[in-house]
This record gives sequence, structure tokens and C-alpha cells, in this order.
Amino acid sequence: SQSSVASTSTGATQRTANKDPSFGLSAGNTIEKPDYSEAKIVVAMVGLPARGKSYLSNKLQRYLLWLEYEVKVFNVGQLRRSKYKKQAEETGKKEDQSANFFDANNKSAAREREHMASECLEQLISWLKAGGNVGIHDATNTTRARRQALVDRVKREPGLRLIFIESVCTDPAVIAANIAVKVASGDPDYDGQDRAQAEKDFKERIKHYEDSYQPLDEELDGSYTWCKMVNVGKQVTVNRIDGYLQSRIAFYLMNLHLTPRSIYFTRHGESQYNVEGKIGGDAPLSAQGEKYMQALPKLVQEKIGDTPLTVWTSTLRRTIQTASGLPYEKLTWKSLDELDAGVCDGMTYEEIEVSYPEDYAARDDDKFNYRYRGGESYRDVVIRLEPVILELERQENILVVCHQAVLRCLYAYFHNLTQDELPYLKIPLHTVIKLTPKAYGCDEERFALPIEAVDTTRARPLTRPEAIKRDRDLGVSPSTSRPATAMGGPKSFQ
Ligand code: F6P
Ligand code: PEP
Repeated sequence: SQSSVASTSTGATQRTANKDPSFGLSAGNTIEKPDYSEAKIVVAMVGLPARGKSYLSNKLQRYLLWLEYEVKVFNVGQLRRSKYKKQAEETGKKEDQSANFFDANNKSAAREREHMASECLEQLISWLKAGGNVGIHDATNTTRARRQALVDRVKREPGLRLIFIESVCTDPAVIAANIAVKVASGDPDYDGQDRAQAEKDFKERIKHYEDSYQPLDEELDGSYTWCKMVNVGKQVTVNRIDGYLQSRIAFYLMNLHLTPRSIYFTRHGESQYNVEGKIGGDAPLSAQGEKYMQALPKLVQEKIGDTPLTVWTSTLRRTIQTASGLPYEKLTWKSLDELDAGVCDGMTYEEIEVSYPEDYAARDDDKFNYRYRGGESYRDVVIRLEPVILELERQENILVVCHQAVLRCLYAYFHNLTQDELPYLKIPLHTVIKLTPKAYGCDEERFALPIEAVDTTRARPLTRPEAIKRDRDLGVSPSTSRPATAMGGPKSFQ
């Protein structure tokens, strides 16, 4: 680094402005989330039971949350259960919620169901008006009359838009798997019930819905906005999709599929910069990193076998080198390059603390939002990874060989983790992480190779109250400076 830093007697630093490599660059700053306050959408699901509506609602929620929209799922089944539970507690009257309740000929139950669907919509609308962006109405909405009621109600709210997402599923194996998930012990509709009895009842319920189902129709429903998905991943029809957020939702849904597969993540092998404790750069692998590179093909072969696989790397040397021995098709992505540390690229954390003390403290205060001078924040990385996420959804088995910060972002998407925990996730070197998407979320396995590597993580700094408590426990006078971090440090072994 060409920075010219002089230590003063107090240990503080002074800088000669004209030699400052950040001269002319705005100070590293904390960029808050984008303003999405104008985006207000009601997403109404459509489809028979066991067609994956809740699965799609949850996926969509996870994606939009990751992009920082305020998203909430409003599930009519949940509202029904809690309402009748309360009624039973208060009056002792137990409502029959077996298949009979869902028979269209059961007039009083049918009225109740319409009432609950609209109550759920009211909750959703209130939430949107209080600042939400996307409210998902997770119900069957299988009749034209029900959908018309939703359209009429949303129309009365200026600024709110309605989009229907229909899930049609004709694959008996997928339907059977969805039924199995529903009646498995733990589902609140069949909690404590005999499994065979639960399955029989649920199938009867589906039959009732089939009797009155009116799928979205190009002619009859041509004036509404909708997206019809046939056998998730096989066919998508869109109608009157309009505007940025609606297009984003439709495009995301087009990329989904249900084919079983796994996604593998690994960081590059240890690099020479890792050994020196330096961040960023384009250094080659260290001797230990080369050992990982040599051992990786065997590990991948053991875990993946002959299943087709594509390997993605960043454009940086250390990932390309790590993947070089893997006998699979390879793709390099610029979007997978490590978080750009701007003027701090090539420095150690200690050097940053000395040269840019305010930046260093600002990053500790809000690591997700902090943007390096002339570089990126975690938020910037999340945004540039959106095409990668869409492609990961579209593809089958993929091994991503990239970097600590980038993998934290990808990992947080698949596990639905918060912005607060994301920048501190543990993604060690010389470890392959296997994620297998399931009905809700992902299963995870980790395979660590016994090849020593430095630990490149900086632990989360203590908060002010934690530092005070630590000082009290140690019996020392309270620190006036920023609390020290519990450094993992680049020189310790994992
Ligand atoms: O140290 C390895 C590294 O990949 C650096 O290149 C990068 O700046 C850093 O990790 C990201 O981790 P953190 O956000 O915790 O500083
Ligand atoms: C439900 O009560 O579980 C439900 C989904 O409601 P509806 O079919 O009326 O939308």
C-alpha cells in the first residue's frame, strides 16, 4: 500500500491527504437498504391442496426477503386453526375441520371459509399499509367467485396490485410426496391423528376441492395479472405481468424446479494472501492450498459419484487453480469474485485498523451495510449475486468454488438467514458444504479435509454492554475505547 501513515505519541494516526490512496474516493460509508416503499403487491396463491402452494410461497418469501423486500405469508389454514382453537377454548364448541368442512355443499362451512379468506386478506392489507411490500395470501382460491372477491377488495386500495400465482401439478409422484409431507406427524391439521386416517381424510378433502376447481383461464381470467405454473419447472404462463417487482417475481418462478439435486460450496484452497493475513488480491494458492486442490477431485468423486456436475469458479486465480483438477464442465463468473475491499485491498485487518480507524470501526458497527472506500459492502455483493441465485435455482448439481464473503451471501439465501448473522457465518477453508433443497429449506452436510489452513475469520466484536460485562468480570476498569474483538486471527490453525 502506498498510504503514508504516521503514528502519533497517543497511538492515533495522521495521514497526508495527497498521498492517501483513498484521495478522491468518498469515505467508506454505511449504505442503508433501498427504498421499496412504493412497492405494494398482494400475491394470491391458487391451486388444489398438495400442489406446492406453501412451498412456492415460502421460496418466494425467502428470495424477496434476501433482496430486502418486506414480505409476509398470510396462511388461511393457520387462521382457521387458531380461530377454532380459540372458539373451542372459550365456548367448548369444537368445529369439525375434517374433509366435510371443505365440501362445497356444506353451505355454512363454505360461508365460513369465504369469511376467513377475506379476514386473512384484511390482515394482509393492513400489514401492507403499515409498510410491507409483498403480502402472500396462501389459500386455495380455486373458485372464480373467491378470486373475484379478492380482486374487488384489492381494487379499493389505491397503490395496491394483485397477482395470482397458480400451481397446477399433474405428476402423481409429486402429489403423493406432498400428501405424505402434509399428513406426516407434526402437521397441525392432523396432529396426533392416525396416519392412514389422516391420509384418507386429506384425499377426501382434495376431492371436494377438485369438484369445484376453476383453474385460471386465458379467456375468462384474461383481465387479471397472473402466473400459472404447471409441474414447477416444466411450464409457466404469464398474463398481464406489469412493472419491475411483478416481472422479478415471475422471472424467479420461471427458474424454479423440483428435480432432486444438491448444491456444493467450497472456498478456494488456502492462498498466499490468506497466509499473510491480507484480504482481497489475486494471489495464487499456498503450499497447503495446493494440497487441497489435489485432494478435492477425490472428495468430489466420493460424494457425487457419476452424477452430472458443473463447476463454477470466480475469475480469480485462486478459485480457478483450486478447480483445475476437477474433471467436470467449468464456468467462470465475474459475479463470484470476492467482496471488493477497495482501498483496503491487499491490507491486513491490523493495517486497516491503523490506516482507516473510522472505517474499521464503522464496519464493526454494521458489517452488512458498510461499504469499503472504492469497494463494496455485503449488500452490494448480495445484489450482484442475484443472477447467480437465479441460475442456481435453474440448474441441477453445481459445485461453486469461490470466496468467504460471497459464500456467506449464497449460504444465507439457502438457509434464510438474517443480514445481521450473514457477515459472520463460518465458512472455513478446505471444507465442502453440501446443501440439498427440501420441501422447506435445505439439508446440510459438511466435509472437511484434514489439510491445515489458516483461519481467516474475524469474530464479531463485542457490543458495548458485552465489553462492560467482560471488564467487570475481569475486575478491570471499563474500557473507553472500542471493545476489542475476539480475533480468530490469520495465524491460528483451524
Ligand atoms: O480473508 C479472506 C477474504 O476472502 C478476503 O479476501 C475478504 O476481504 C474477506 O475474507 C471477507 O471476510 P470479512 O467480510 O469477514 O472481512
Ligand atoms: C384452509 O382452510 O386450509 C384453506 C386453505 O382455505 P381455503 O381453501 O378456503 O382457501
